[in-house]
Amino acid sequence: RILHDYLAGDEIIILSNREPYIHNWKEDRVEVQVPASGLVTALEPIMRACSGVWIAHGSGSADRDTVDARGHVRVPPERPAYAIRRIWMKAEEETGYYYGFANEGLWPLCHLAHVRPVFRSQDWRHYKEINERFAMAVIEEAKTDNPVVLVQDYHLALAPKIIRDHLANATIITFWHIPWPNSERYAICPWHREILEGLLGSSILGFHTRFHCSNFIDSVDRLLESRIDRDTSTISHGGKLTAVHHYPISIEWPSGPLRAHPSVPDCRTQIRTLHRLKPEHRIALGVERLDYTKGILERFLAVERLLELQPEWIGRFTFIQIAAPSRSIIEQYRRFSEEVRALADRINARFGYTGYQPIVLLVEHHSPADLMTYYRGADCCFVSSLHDGMNLVAKEFVAARDDDQGVLILSQFTGAACELPEALIVNPYHIDQCAAALHLALTMPAVEQRARMRSMRGVVQEFNVYRWAGRMLMDAARMRQRARLIREVG
Ligand code: G6P
Repeated sequence: RILHDYLAGDEIIILSNREPYIHNWKEDRVEVQVPASGLVTALEPIMRACSGVWIAHGSGSADRDTVDARGHVRVPPERPAYAIRRIWMKAEEETGYYYGFANEGLWPLCHLAHVRPVFRSQDWRHYKEINERFAMAVIEEAKTDNPVVLVQDYHLALAPKIIRDHLANATIITFWHIPWPNSERYAICPWHREILEGLLGSSILGFHTRFHCSNFIDSVDRLLESRIDRDTSTISHGGKLTAVHHYPISIEWPSGPLRAHPSVPDCRTQIRTLHRLKPEHRIALGVERLDYTKGILERFLAVERLLELQPEWIGRFTFIQIAAPSRSIIEQYRRFSEEVRALADRINARFGYTGYQPIVLLVEHHSPADLMTYYRGADCCFVSSLHDGMNLVAKEFVAARDDDQGVLILSQFTGAACELPEALIVNPYHIDQCAAALHLALTMPAVEQRARMRSMRGVVQEFNVYRWAGRMLMDAARMRQRARLIREVG
């Protein structure tokens, strides 16, 4: 309802690299996959609520076979509410734009995870071309001269300016889902100026935290000629104004996959039966894409340390790591995946025995419903990112626990840590501290779990994804109203 109030019939177009539904051929039938992406998790409920068009890269093997002549497909499959417009790219374009510039350049540039960013001129060329393609699709889709365009993430930094050049009255809200580095580090990018200018095509530029907003403003201050008003957090560049604000992203509440889901005791039994564990066996859980920013190695080392220091857990505790394969064409990701497997094998060889493995590593995609069963069946969820814009796994775990039980261990280097101080906050580089947090989590009395969980649930319920979108759209609505007034008054 909030979204309807703010949009009041406005046209809404979302732009992101990743599409919310991927169609793949499985033998002779089409299977629909929901990708493992925090961005998709957050935006999909909004599109279901307000319809519109979502422009995204068509990446599935059956994507071309499921669209109409305009490149559209209506989704969600079970109850169509909005359209995806698919953008096609050649293999070499995807390599340059997505794997190269976005994921070997910008991703490691923005995350402090000690992976060196790689910038190649030919990747940059593809990045520019694909951003142009996305922007032109907006212009084709727009039915009015002033749509509300929601541009998502680091894949599309140049699109806001291109859209602005064609649709001067559009309200362009760009959200950067990953951290923004300090200005010194940011200047490593050979095309830092073009990226800043691209983003400053936006009416509103959003980050998860205040800290990332100031890093961005400092970068503009240092690298671009512009006027900055730090009191109002606005930047004026080339005669255009951009407001830079923080909007911490969140998830749907009540959680979609929770509807009609089996009870917590049923989930506990299901998970333990599936993994051939006793009913009283303790389980801690990790859920993410197999990505070097997520601190998976540090987490496994903490499990090893726990078993070293508290051997009473051997045979009574298992860490289940769900890791969705991700960006595996990139060398860094392949190497990281091997390191994760090798470390799990080493720890399992050290502490495991027939019928017992301290670490269960599941490198495969899981559906939202399956993840819900794991969240509800576990005793603890461990998020140990080395650096993370927000981290929605932490919030999903909290939303899943309507029994008010379960302990969240959360890295201090996530945006989520600012909002969920009742979690056990850890520094993932401090392995002893993480091992102690695991022990604390596994022995925490039910009353304390309840107190912490209730408080965290209150926060996620109140600051849910509708609030995230609502705040941005409310700011946009104010801007639109002001622009209308100026036009009318002349
Ligand atoms: C992060 C990014 C998203 C991206 C997701 C999954 O959350 O901020 O933009 O969709 O990772 O990564 P992938 O490369 O598979 O889309």
